[in-house]
Amino acid sequence: MISIGSISDGNPEMTIEKVSVYDLHKRLAFLKKINYPESSSEKPLSQWKMEIDDAPILRYLFRNFQPKRHLEFGTWEGFGTVLCLEESGATVWTINLLGGEAKADGSWAYGRKFENTESIPQGAEKLEVKIDEKTTDMYYHTDAYGFIGHLYREKNLGNRVCQIFCDSKDWDISNFPAGFFDSIFIDGGHQKDIVISDTKKALKLLRPGGLIIWHDYCPDEKVNIEGLSTISVMEAINECGKLLQKELSDLFWINPSWILIGRKRLEPVKPFWSKVFGNSGK
Ligand SMILES: C[S@@+](CC[C@H](N)C(=O)[O-])C[C@H]1O[C@@H](n2cnc3c(N)ncnc32)[C@H](O)[C@@H]1O
Repeated sequence: MISIGSISDGNPEMTIEKVSVYDLHKRLAFLKKINYPESSSEKPLSQWKMEIDDAPILRYLFRNFQPKRHLEFGTWEGFGTVLCLEESGATVWTINLLGGEAKADGSWAYGRKFENTESIPQGAEKLEVKIDEKTTDMYYHTDAYGFIGHLYREKNLGNRVCQIFCDSKDWDISNFPAGFFDSIFIDGGHQKDIVISDTKKALKLLRPGGLIIWHDYCPDEKVNIEGLSTISVMEAINECGKLLQKELSDLFWINPSWILIGRKRLEPVKPFWSKVFGNSGK
């Protein structure tokens, strides 16, 4: 395993290793090795697609870890939620902005044109764009209102989902007991401040031994071109270095993927004085 860079906030000893996708079972103590498609393992990371190349890894993690309670930041259409629901018996809590994410200029961050409108979920927000006198294109807001989570509803899996609508930065977690979730997937807003806020909440809500998974973490220089969300995700991880070191017993990037994964410590790190005074020195 190769160290791919040290976390830069005064923890020079903490490095994020890269672990081959084919060694995941050893690192996570799973019995079965992943059956990962060669077409993905040979693909340049700059041409990566979550739905094709990361999905088999996420499915493998959920199938082998079997969370009972899973949390996902950033539902979008519900693709990641479906992976967890199909591979485990978990109930999933997932959070998304009701009105969708906006870019700096106010335009939709997630929207696309549909040729066939039969498959549009109820309650979708649409925008008609006039191309010329005769043609208009219809765009749909795919991370807002009726589109949020439609994939798990269409598969009749909604009975195992608690959908939360709000800005994750404003989400009040005080009604959840610490350590409530077995696994947490962070894939909501990709701006640095949001990733940091989601990470801090996740670490409080994750049980000892639980898995924390970040999407859009990829230390490949061809991926990290200006404006891409991976840059801010990696910056956020760097900034959380001390906290991650305190809370996690393991943290590594899965190679090849856009996935970073950590495991919460089974026991909190003891303060240095406990070594000198024992537990009475609290
Ligand atoms: C990359 S997509 C999520 C993809 C999804 N996890 C999947 O597996 O298909 C990011 C989602 O996060 C949502 N989002 C962005 N900022 C958010 C915030 N501050 N709070 C909650 N949701 C947010 C967006 O609306 C969008 O649906």
